[in-house]
Amino acid sequence: MIFHQIRCGNCLSYLIGCEETRTAIVVDPESSQIDRYLSLVSRDGLLIHFVFDTHTHADHFSGSKQLATHIGARVVMHRAAAAPFIDMPVDDGETLIVGKLRARVMHTPGHTSDSTCMVFGDRILTGDTLLIGGTGRTDLPSGDPYQLYDSLFHGILLLEPALEVFPAHDYKGRTNSTLRDEIENNPRLQSRDRNTFVEQMRALELGMPAHLTEALRVNRSGGKSVASLIADASGKIAFMAMEDVLRLGDAHDSNIIVLDVREHEAYRAGHIPRAINIPRGQLELRVNDLLPDPTRRIVACCEYGKISTLAAATLKDMGFGRAVALDGGIQAWKRAGYPLVGGP
Ligand SMILES: [Fe+2]
Repeated sequence: MIFHQIRCGNCLSYLIGCEETRTAIVVDPESSQIDRYLSLVSRDGLLIHFVFDTHTHADHFSGSKQLATHIGARVVMHRAAAAPFIDMPVDDGETLIVGKLRARVMHTPGHTSDSTCMVFGDRILTGDTLLIGGTGRTDLPSGDPYQLYDSLFHGILLLEPALEVFPAHDYKGRTNSTLRDEIENNPRLQSRDRNTFVEQMRALELGMPAHLTEALRVNRSGGKSVASLIADASGKIAFMAMEDVLRLGDAHDSNIIVLDVREHEAYRAGHIPRAINIPRGQLELRVNDLLPDPTRRIVACCEYGKISTLAAATLKDMGFGRAVALDGGIQAWKRAGYPLVGGP
């Protein structure tokens, strides 16, 4: 078995392949790590057949749809998952065949209603059902501590104790444990009483994950996160360093147009000398009047460098072939002590 664990912050994803047939599956891919999976796949000479999410993640952006679309693989999730881009809904007791490998799906609701674990020979990918020294939380949408108890004590904890546990998260840099280790040492599993387990889960005072609303929206719909919109845009354009904007803008024969895409009030309060202002929201409708020459070199800028990236990519799409964005924003420009002027 070819087995890679890929860590991105506290999130763990997996690329598992059959040595003999080179068929592979990716489990819980993170959207920012797509190039990493693809490079591992090409290094190892693998072909991904399945992309599997153990559940609807609330704390990171799933790369399943993106990865599957890119390589022509099938997205697999439990049938309770809401995402409309699932090609192959599966249920408890079903098996995915990955070359000569068998991946048996167990429905283990509790962390979410669509949570699953996957048994691969001598190991189990436990998603967020069982973590090393912990369990998934049950206070997020569709979580249920009673179900988690049943999924653990009447489900995966009954499997072979030597099974190696590979979770979807770990907060302390650990990679794996075994079911035996967890049964013996995991503090949340020490009482076998259902009500005690539930009380213990309810007593946890956990902060909400960052990007909860956005992650659920993206993971349930297959839409894009703001970060991936900006990443897509920044892949279409070039950027210009502040020093170069200053140098080229100051040149006697400068033909650069600095385009400030912030709202008018922000522009009035202080902008790069000679910058013109078209707020991002009006950009498409006003370029014909204010930027009549599509061959001009345009540098878009905004407060932090994100909206200007989107604006420059839009201009590029509209035919402004030399549109670029300022690398940084007016905040960084100000911090660098570069000149700003106020006014109309
Ligand atoms: Fe989760």
